[in-house]
Amino acid sequence: MLIRPRRLRKNQKIRDLVRETTLTKNDLIMPIFVDENLKSNERKEIQSMPNQYRFSIEGAVEEAKEIADLGIPAVILFGIPKHKDEVASSAYDKNGVIQKTIKGIKDELGDELLVIADVCLCEYTSHGHCGIVKDGKILNDETLEILSKIALSYAESGADIVAPSDMMDGRVKAIRETLEKHGFDDVAIMSYAAKYASSFYGPFRDAAESAPKFGDRKSYQMDIGNAREAMKEIKLDIEEGADLILVKPALPYLDIIRMARDRFDVPIGGYCVSGEYAMVEAAARNGWLNRESAIFETLLSIKRAGADFIITYWAKEVASWYLY
Ligand code: PBG
Repeated sequence: MLIRPRRLRKNQKIRDLVRETTLTKNDLIMPIFVDENLKSNERKEIQSMPNQYRFSIEGAVEEAKEIADLGIPAVILFGIPKHKDEVASSAYDKNGVIQKTIKGIKDELGDELLVIADVCLCEYTSHGHCGIVKDGKILNDETLEILSKIALSYAESGADIVAPSDMMDGRVKAIRETLEKHGFDDVAIMSYAAKYASSFYGPFRDAAESAPKFGDRKSYQMDIGNAREAMKEIKLDIEEGADLILVKPALPYLDIIRMARDRFDVPIGGYCVSGEYAMVEAAARNGWLNRESAIFETLLSIKRAGADFIITYWAKEVASWYLY
């Protein structure tokens, strides 16, 4: 035998030398849930996501400091407001939960931490849908106005990046134009370009109290069987002005990340969602797999598929394992 691939697997040093994919702190974005109903010193564990919490505004600012100290470059914020209505008005309230949190973090940390604000209606609407509802239908163009207002309000509060996760058509263009008009040309848009109607968001909807009160999200989130359509969505979002794009969920859609990587030259992120987190945590609790190596393998596979960065609930923990 002349060729023996095992020669390059002989010991850890040689394996390290030839490893093609790496995971560093710089690849990570940590989500933070901010609950306006909590008192400043309160935090609440999320039942279906062990070790993940909802924080008060003050608690979220403290958490952001810890995250920055660990060397993680960015957080993404999700809000749970006191008040919900048909049009998600607390999402664009100057004194809304996310607006206050962004200001709090920026006052403390300035450029030491990138603040990304998720832009959507579902956590703020009484019906739990990501758009304006009329006669049981989710209206597209009417929703664009609200999304633009929300994004603008987050930009005014100091967000570095706004991340529309609603899946309405044309929302990137609407948001980009609004930001330009108001002088926020340096605020980037990270669009959830290929977001599937996935069952893996279950625990998040628990965490953010954002489950739809009727029907499902299949008329706006993508059909789970489609790959070419994801390329179309990504292309549109880039043309409309998205600076970074996301594929979500990550693990069940690694093929989509790879396809996108091969076609588009923008930064691509994978969102390792709540259900992916819960799945590994639950199996580990049962002693069915080795927790730390399963987490590392999960995140590394998302990088290997072609992602430049990963939104993951494990960011904080993983950053504490890595020194570079
Ligand atoms: C809001 C939003 C959702 C997630 C991120 N932004 C929920 C949804 O679309 O139902 C899911 C994140 C996760 O599951 O970790 N639209």
